[in-house]
Amino acid sequence: MTHLAAAPSPSVRVRAPGKVNLSLRVGALQDDGHHPLSTIFQAVSLYEEVTATQVPEGAGVTITVDGPQADLVPLDRTNLAWRAAEALAAHVGMAPDVALHLAKGVPVAGGMAGGSADAAATLVACDALWQAGLSRDDLAALAADLGADVPFALLGHTAVGTGRGHLLTPAMTRGEFHWVFAAQAEGLSTPVVFGRFDELTGPAGAVEEPGLEEDTALMQALRAGDAVALGQALHNDLQAAALSLRPELERTIDVATEAGALGAFVSGSGPTVAALARSRQHALAIAASWTAEGAADSVWCTSGPAHGARLLP
Ligand code: C5P
Repeated sequence: MTHLAAAPSPSVRVRAPGKVNLSLRVGALQDDGHHPLSTIFQAVSLYEEVTATQVPEGAGVTITVDGPQADLVPLDRTNLAWRAAEALAAHVGMAPDVALHLAKGVPVAGGMAGGSADAAATLVACDALWQAGLSRDDLAALAADLGADVPFALLGHTAVGTGRGHLLTPAMTRGEFHWVFAAQAEGLSTPVVFGRFDELTGPAGAVEEPGLEEDTALMQALRAGDAVALGQALHNDLQAAALSLRPELERTIDVATEAGALGAFVSGSGPTVAALARSRQHALAIAASWTAEGAADSVWCTSGPAHGARLLP
């Protein structure tokens, strides 16, 4: 007797990285509800992995999730990955029929753009699954409409971001930088942090167009692969806002500094704290200090720069 097994549904897997903003300079709130940014992103080797599987016509989008804090991730249209599948389908004139599985490797709602990485990975995955053959430029345009951090998750490595953070220019770097992240169980909402930034700076406080002039030393440190100089140049205009919403993060920063971090600061809109270490060994030591002091709900040792959204074989 022979068994005719059903052929497995076609599926593709894509990895996209989380990020840290080495510098984040924020301008005054614009009429479109966004703030102009001047930022330097670095992708780190913490990856979201998205599996996109073909489903019967008319089945629509479904999302399943696993990984730490998976229970915090929405499974409906509010998930950026869902909207990424819809946007790509609309662009190529198809129905958005796909099952998305998100394996979370980036802290959830932590200011490390894990949700944006899911969206970037979904664009690349659906493009491959549906054999749409879109160029990287087409994907980047769709990414920019989804959210300010999505284009960088496509691109990866290290890049200067302007506009809402979505206009990218790759930056030169040398070597590998060792990072350790302290994540918190309770995330911070990006719009809430930007709102506190507005309250703290006042209507006239922020500059119209933040520029990169003040990041010359940072760019030089990246080119030279000089982690000590990079640590001194790290900057985040949203840090005061994040700290005023979560004062306990001051201690997380202090613990890293006492453990010899080359720099320690809030990552993006927080509440994750990023510390730059001298080596992988040193990153593990900072992580151990955070754990011993109860200054983090979870710790993540990694390095950057890392590649952008990429199909897995
Ligand atoms: O672009 P994204 O959808 O990720 O942004 C989420 C929210 O964060 C925006 O709706 C806005 O309130 C705030 N934001 C901002 N300025 C930016 C990026 C985000 O005010 N450059």
